[in-house]
Amino acid sequence: MAKEQASIITIFGGSGDLARRKLYPSLYQLYHRGVLKQHFAVIGTARRPWTNDYYHQIIAESLQDEPNTDAESVRDFASHFYYQSHDVTDSDHYVTLKNLSSKLDEEYGAEGNRLFYMAMAPRFFGTIASHIKSEDLFSKTGYNRLIIEKPFGRDYATAKELNDSIRAAFDEDQIYRIDHYLGKEMVQGLLALRFTNPLLTPIWNKDYIANVQITLAESVGVEERAGYYETAGALRDMVQNHIMQLIAYVAMEQPESFTPEHVHAAKNKLFSHLPVLSAEQAAKDWVRGQYAAGNGQPAYCDEDKVDAGSQIETYVAGKVELDDPRWVGVPFYVRTGKRLPRKTTQITINFKSMGQNIFDTVGCAEARTNRLTVYVEPEQGYTLTLNGKTLGANYELEQHDLDFRQQQADIDAAPEAYERLIRDALSGDQTNFTRWTEQKYTWQYIDAIRQAWDAGASLTKYAAGSNGPAAADELLARDGFEWAEQFK
Ligand SMILES: NC(=O)c1ccc[n+]([C@@H]2O[C@H](COP(=O)([O-])OP(=O)(O)OC[C@H]3O[C@@H](n4cnc5c(N)ncnc54)[C@H](OP(=O)(O)O)[C@@H]3O)[C@@H](O)[C@H]2O)c1
Repeated sequence: MAKEQASIITIFGGSGDLARRKLYPSLYQLYHRGVLKQHFAVIGTARRPWTNDYYHQIIAESLQDEPNTDAESVRDFASHFYYQSHDVTDSDHYVTLKNLSSKLDEEYGAEGNRLFYMAMAPRFFGTIASHIKSEDLFSKTGYNRLIIEKPFGRDYATAKELNDSIRAAFDEDQIYRIDHYLGKEMVQGLLALRFTNPLLTPIWNKDYIANVQITLAESVGVEERAGYYETAGALRDMVQNHIMQLIAYVAMEQPESFTPEHVHAAKNKLFSHLPVLSAEQAAKDWVRGQYAAGNGQPAYCDEDKVDAGSQIETYVAGKVELDDPRWVGVPFYVRTGKRLPRKTTQITINFKSMGQNIFDTVGCAEARTNRLTVYVEPEQGYTLTLNGKTLGANYELEQHDLDFRQQQADIDAAPEAYERLIRDALSGDQTNFTRWTEQKYTWQYIDAIRQAWDAGASLTKYAAGSNGPAAADELLARDGFEWAEQFK
């Protein structure tokens, strides 16, 4: 049975899209599993003047498609929610929030624990943090923790500024920076695969691995996020955070133990081996594209709220080379894009060839390389591709896939990423959140690419529904490789 967590959770941006689509359903599932039970209350805050009753209706609506719901549970769950109309730039409101927190703490027996969730535009994060400190919303008897959403800055300078403003109020061990990919089952499962299998652990290095490929493909376009996307693009939106975190999990040394300190130390060490690229190298190794009309879909530039001459990239492919001794000479090819033929997140480890095939002498086909493919989503599982003999009298070789896939019913019953991460924050486990140093290294790496592009590297168009720009294939062909999978 789950351990109950007592807390007063304050959600800044309580009327927003993230709160309704992700946070309330996740909190409900934690309630359903008994992590949240009696000793919790949630204060939702935003400017619009809602009543508590109306807020409870919003909570109930946000749970309409959730499993494990029934009218009585939803009513009881919603009764823990309190709405406070509040402009985060107005100091007076923080006094109201402070008094309400203390009152609810007493009423619900929340043991003096405070979890603050910033589910608003990042430009408000610094203001909120400094007001939490100046108006002293901190509890003296329990913990004070801050969950902060992405994007964490738009380059190194703004990320540092943001970090400094938060650190002026919270210590690093109180800050939980969300990268929801770290809450995904198969991302967490990657560490189990790597560090518990004697079949894999000893060969996870440059001597046996030819290249690594990471794909985060989306079939959707920019949807209603154009306002934000026009200021970000795929490099900032997907590579600096999700793809870099996946690289860390694939490439870091085995942590001394599975504790936040040791996992972050291993990631930190890995990221310290991310060399800052020269402008020439960045322009050579990083490809950017933007979707044009195709497959009955409009071009990015024709989407609502997008500038007709926008130079924002909706596709990125690149080659990451770590100067870590374990990985010297092993390219990590990454790609992410919108309006690709289908949605998939997968990681492919291509092993080196044996160099010798004794069956050559009997005229058989060439032995292919081995490959491990980890499916993160929507499928979850992995495939190990080995060489084997064809059925029959001759020594012909063919590839055999050893497959493992989670069943859809089990995936549906397992906690979703946000639920896992909120649960971790409630129990004080920072393993699956990012540290400032990780942000620092990855932004410095990304900034160099951005600067090279801004200096004139070209933006290629690709048809919506296609595989992306041909330059992404050439990037690998140049090194004698190809993408393990095209989205046919
Ligand atoms: N939505 C997602 O799926 C998603 C996914 C990943 C990350 N994120 C991140 O999560 C954060 C929130 O995104 P969102 O999509 O939920 O945004 P959103 O729908 O625009 O919500 C913004 C919230 O902020 C409140 N707000 C705005 N100005 C305020 C002010 N001056 N004082 C008090 N409240 C104010 C709004 O309510 P009022 O208008 O009533 O004040 C609303 O509740 C962003 O950092 C975003 O990048 C979102």
